[in-house]
Amino acid sequence: MKTKIKAIALALALALGMGVTALGVVAGEVKSLRPAAADAPDAPPAIYKVMEGSKHERAYRQQPPLVPHTTDKYEIDLKVNQCLRCHEWPYSDQEKAPKISDLHYIDRNGVRQDVVNGNRYFCKQCHVPQVDAKPLVDNKFQAATTNTNIR
Ligand code: HEC
Ligand code: HEC
Repeated sequence: MKTKIKAIALALALALGMGVTALGVVAGEVKSLRPAAADAPDAPPAIYKVMEGSKHERAYRQQPPLVPHTTDKYEIDLKVNQCLRCHEWPYSDQEKAPKISDLHYIDRNGVRQDVVNGNRYFCKQCHVPQVDAKPLVDNKFQAATTNTNIR
């Protein structure tokens, strides 16, 4: 009985081994981007200081602008959204803060509403404070600033 199980196990191992090599994937060669083993906890990300008083340029037209001030004290939940206290009209005029653009008031059917739509309620989903962070992986990203229509 035991030898039979061993034989089946061996056959399975061989079949699997062949299948995997046929695909060109050998377990030993698969390399994770993570430096540590998959079950090891990640190192905490570096904490950067928010760059206040300056403004990062947008890298492409549709980019949500980065936030030029700290945001950790501003509560956003179902009842309160402190970002709106400065960025929603008419407070934006009183606080001299940039007014949220009209696109934030359009619902998913394309209808303009009078209150910030739910799909733009959680501001930090799109607007993150600006920091001089190092790229997580090397990349060749370039800002899309070439506009051939303007001479
Ligand atoms: C106390 C008022 C106040 C609060 C609260 C506030 N902001 Fe601001 N925010 C400002 C002011 C003033 C500026 C303009 C600063 C500047 O241009 O240097 C600004 C700038 C910004 C900008 C840049 C806009 C642009 O056109 O470049 C973004 C994005 C932004 N804030 C998002 C947020 C988010 C998200 C929150 C909530 C987490 C928030 N703000 C809370 C006052 C506020
Ligand atoms: C789904 C992504 C998303 C969310 C969520 C979002 N925004 Fe934006 N925001 C954008 C984009 C994209 C732009 C630039 C294009 C535009 O004007 O809509 C922008 C522009 C802005 C601007 C600059 C407006 C201007 O005319 O220069 C401000 C200020 C702003 N958002 C504040 C906020 C605040 C405050 C919240 C939360 C109530 C918020 N945004 C939520 C995507 C988002």
